[in-house]
Amino acid sequence: MSQAFIEADNLRKTYHIGKIEVEALRGVSFSVQRGEFVTVVGPSGSGKSTLFYLLGGLTRADSGSVILDGDDFAKLSDAERTNMRKRKIGFVFQKFNLLPTLDARSNIQIAQEISGDGHGDPSFFNRITELLGLTKRLKHRPAELSGGEQQRVALARALINKPVVVLADEPTGNLDSKNSDAVLSMLRQSNQELGQTVLMITHNPEAARYGDRIIHMRDGQIVRAEQDPQWREQ
Ligand SMILES: Nc1ncnc2c1ncn2[C@@H]1O[C@H](COP(=O)(O)OP(=O)(O)OP(=O)(O)O)[C@@H](O)[C@H]1O
Ligand SMILES: [Mg+2]
Repeated sequence: MSQAFIEADNLRKTYHIGKIEVEALRGVSFSVQRGEFVTVVGPSGSGKSTLFYLLGGLTRADSGSVILDGDDFAKLSDAERTNMRKRKIGFVFQKFNLLPTLDARSNIQIAQEISGDGHGDPSFFNRITELLGLTKRLKHRPAELSGGEQQRVALARALINKPVVVLADEPTGNLDSKNSDAVLSMLRQSNQELGQTVLMITHNPEAARYGDRIIHMRDGQIVRAEQDPQWREQ
């Protein structure tokens, strides 16, 4: 059988704060096929964001491995990992990570500049910002946007380069149900049209059902994995 698109094997990560140790991940293994839309749910503190950082190559595991599209993170230099991230991964961070001095348009376009794609495809930019209801907010800086608007700018930034994989940490965390639907539909559409692999972390059981499959985490471990939630029946 061919290798899965993402393979996480026995990931462990402990944080040290002075003498206190927090075991955030205690042996997490799973695989995701190319083009799958997988959601990860679990209580606060169960290790979801820690997993997100490891899968995106943003931090290193204490042990275990991540292979993404054939690249074993542990075998890449820091520069190679950075390059791989820029080329392949779109990130939606739980805390948005927008640049405060740039307006919404520039916060989205900076992703294109960093990837070396110049200003990319303007019609795709227009389509994404329209679908996410941002067209009238493009000149606003993050401080002049609501939390939900910032979250949608962060999603537009993640999708603008048409990455092969999208990692989204609570992309609907600050949204009402209408905007939450817009974000989830956008992710689903992007997944289906571009064959993107999507891994979305969420607290919201409704949002989790947008995926093909749900992974449940608790206390740094996977406790349950479900196939085929209800959306396929719609
Ligand atoms: N940088 C850090 N330093 C120390 N401990 C941390 C750090 N980041 C996370 N932790 C701890 O690791 C555990 C897992 O945190 P993580 O952020 O992965 O959880 P989460 O499932 O994303 O939670 P939430 O749903 O609240 O976002 C928690 O107990 C948290 O306090
Ligand atoms: Mg988190």
